[in-house]
Amino acid sequence: MTKVICFSLQKGGVAKTTTTSITAYLLAEMGHKVLAVDFDSQGNLTAILTQQNIYDFTGRTVLEAIKEDNAEEYTVKVTDNLHVLPANDYLATISKYLYRDYTGVPVRALEKALEPIKDQYDYILIDTPPNLGDLTTNALTASDYVVIPYATDQWTFDALFPFMETVQYVEKNVNQSLKFVGILPRIIDSRVGETKDYLEALDTYFPNKRFETTIKSNAAARRLQMYGFFDNSEVNKAVRQYKPFLKELLERCQE
Ligand SMILES: Nc1ncnc2c1ncn2[C@@H]1O[C@H](COP(=O)(O)OP(=O)(O)OP(=O)(O)O)[C@@H](O)[C@H]1O
Ligand SMILES: [Mg+2]
Repeated sequence: MTKVICFSLQKGGVAKTTTTSITAYLLAEMGHKVLAVDFDSQGNLTAILTQQNIYDFTGRTVLEAIKEDNAEEYTVKVTDNLHVLPANDYLATISKYLYRDYTGVPVRALEKALEPIKDQYDYILIDTPPNLGDLTTNALTASDYVVIPYATDQWTFDALFPFMETVQYVEKNVNQSLKFVGILPRIIDSRVGETKDYLEALDTYFPNKRFETTIKSNAAARRLQMYGFFDNSEVNKAVRQYKPFLKELLERCQE
């Protein structure tokens, strides 16, 4: 059965896109059929996975998939196992569409567009934007699991509480099968003392939710956005520390 996992937090720059792309790449490399859904008008997931200009996809994105209630014609093949449903700036118009012209339930629009192609994939991974608007609530509604990428700073910590309220709201009202799988921390600067405090605070407020894997800053990971995953000599260095995370993620997504 297809597992739909979204990577989400309304705080910007916590590595949602990087984590989604590396997880998609590694799952596909393991032999799974993977669809990576870019659900952020920044188009960063589209760019990192296709290494194309995001405007090449104008008129052929997740926005059109939603307008047609069917993503079938809009997935882009990166490899046999890895497909992308692209996005670019025009996705920012989605709320206008959902509340003016859409005839279904607005919060279920993404779920509905993915339904016809869901069976073609083992995993559908959804990248979300840095806000709690319609894109994020649609992604949570379409998902079985949600993972929070977390950076060790105050503003990211503060963002966790309203985010969890949103998850609980979606779970209670639209998607009873949504499960909060865990928080993946990334160390911003291991030299500063408060890093340990931010990790301990997670254990206090969200017991057993922190993944044991902790991601460290790594120049090769940052350079993925320039060179992508394919024909990039640094890719192994960039993804190495995500392998133990992937093992934990797959274990947690059994339930
Ligand atoms: N492990 C890492 N080491 C070094 N840099 C990283 C790492 N992970 C992510 N980055 C960099 O941090 C920045 C933010 O990452 P990313 O774009 O994935 O975050 P995001 O949460 O998707 O941001 P947004 O909220 O804008 O969508 C990017 O420049 C990315 O290359
Ligand atoms: Mg992003």
